[in-house]
Amino acid sequence: RTAFRWIWRLTYISALGVFVYIGYEIYQDRNPEPQVPRDPSKKTLVILGTGWGSVSLLKKLDTENYNVVVISPRNYFLFTPLLPSCTTGLIEHRSIMEPIRSICRSKKGHVTFYEAEASSVDVNRKIVKIRDNSDIRGDTIETEVPYDMLVVGVGAENATFGIPGVRENSCFLKEIGDAQQIRKKIMDCVETAAFKDQPQAEIDRLLHMVVVGGGPTGVEFAGELRDFFEDDIRKLIPDIADRFRVTLIEALPNVLPSFSKQLIEYTESTFKEEEISIHTKTMVKKVTDKTVEAEASKPDGTKERVVFPYGLLVWATGNTLRPLVRDLMASIPAQKDSRRGLAVNEYLVVQGARDIWAVGDCAVAGYAPTAQVASQEGTFLARLFNNMAKTAELEERIQTLSSSLNLKPGVDSASVSREIEDAERKLQRIKDIKPFHYSHQGSLAYIGSEKAVADVSWFNGNVASGGTMTYYFWRSAYLSMVFSTRNRLLVLNDWLKSKLFGRDISRE
Ligand code: FAD
Ligand code: NAI
Repeated sequence: RTAFRWIWRLTYISALGVFVYIGYEIYQDRNPEPQVPRDPSKKTLVILGTGWGSVSLLKKLDTENYNVVVISPRNYFLFTPLLPSCTTGLIEHRSIMEPIRSICRSKKGHVTFYEAEASSVDVNRKIVKIRDNSDIRGDTIETEVPYDMLVVGVGAENATFGIPGVRENSCFLKEIGDAQQIRKKIMDCVETAAFKDQPQAEIDRLLHMVVVGGGPTGVEFAGELRDFFEDDIRKLIPDIADRFRVTLIEALPNVLPSFSKQLIEYTESTFKEEEISIHTKTMVKKVTDKTVEAEASKPDGTKERVVFPYGLLVWATGNTLRPLVRDLMASIPAQKDSRRGLAVNEYLVVQGARDIWAVGDCAVAGYAPTAQVASQEGTFLARLFNNMAKTAELEERIQTLSSSLNLKPGVDSASVSREIEDAERKLQRIKDIKPFHYSHQGSLAYIGSEKAVADVSWFNGNVASGGTMTYYFWRSAYLSMVFSTRNRLLVLNDWLKSKLFGRDISRE
């Protein structure tokens, strides 16, 4: 009984601690301290983008050391790992968005934000041209923003490889608008298939959901889609539920090429149980408004043309360069051999450019284009810039102390010399900043039916695991990583709501 009483007390104290912590965080968010105003004598640091790379930089940057200007067409940060869950309404889209204005307001030094797209960078004049595409005025406003230091974190676009019909007929899965479009389109297919006297072939087409690309985006989306039909549609519209099919098309011999062999096999067998059909070694060549045409390689080496009629097509075949990045690369001769993005050195400086750094999917630093890499790069740059500001401050201090030593009569030269030595030691420590080193924490992916796969680094080794326990690990890992306490509570609430009442299938 004593042990039970102690357990109860500890639980009570921990719960109280969590409540106090959450309450304090919310209070701080709602009542931010006054900010250090803009100081025109400081250097202007322009950050392009509000994604993983740029926001990680902003989060850790001592903004009082610079005039920070953030420019992005998106006035929020998006937690992409939970985006596939928004396509079915498991999670509401606003739960994984964090307004950039609250991130900027939480900083000690003032941060300026412009909702605009950077259209070009003039590396010689050190100017970024920006464009406001807002509908409110009916025209486009263009202006210039000068910079002393520039960080490019604009991410990447969806790759289509110029395959005919892809842009016109597919849905992508990169932004909130994409997830909303998919959510609407799924229900459009379902309601149209359930319409009176639909021909059987048309019902089969409408309820055939095709996903192209067997990378983590395609796999996670296929899993979420299957859950949606099994958990909700089957119960609410049982008469059409048996006709529902999901097909995943992948050009390579297997899905999830970046995961270990054991997890690839586990994913493929789980998809078989979930009746998601996988077509590997199948390369899509053309898309029309109702069909996907592909070329499948047969075991004997011959090729076969396959046609998949579809109701919904989701295209998830990876990344390509944004026009801004392509143009910037073309204006820097040292970038001429780079194909996949801005080539950067080990301090993330864009090669061949002065005072320009790049982070995330638009930078080529030798790592995969993931949120993990982008956020570590952003954090590294924040440390670098904080150190650079301290360096300038210390150098100035050493100079002032040295001149007082030489010129001012009556100064205690021993104590000034000690101060100079101390400042020089600090300066040396700061200047010794190590190059960027990526530390891989592992890869996680949801595969449907409350199962996930994880390749996790553990005590210098690698642990591969798949199943329901991994799914709980996946959920808790992402819940701990979402941007703010507000996001955390909203995501928890969405999961609970969907578990209790099912997903909301109304079409907006
Ligand atoms: P982004 O996060 O894409 O941000 C780019 C920013 O630049 C955006 O704010 C955009 O609006 C802005 N921008 C675009 N053009 C301009 C312009 N011209 N001027 C100014 N700003 C501009 N990675 C993981 O590690 N784990 C995961 O679980 C995971 N899940 C994912 C799930 C999905 C569905 C997707 C699509 C990706 C996922 N990723 C995941 C990959 C991860 O999201 C990206 O690698 C990451 O977002 C890259 O960060 P970034 O800062 O380079 O770009
Ligand atoms: P990807 O590049 O990882 O995969 C795209 C797949 O599409 C490839 O396997 C490719 O072979 C295939 N493909 C290309 N053209 C094709 C065609 N014509 N026909 C059929 N298949 C074709 O792209 P994805 O999944 O969008 O991921 C992009 C980045 O984001 C990756 O670095 C990925 O690791 C990361 N990401 C990570 C997630 C996670 O860790 N859970 C989730 C989503 C994305």
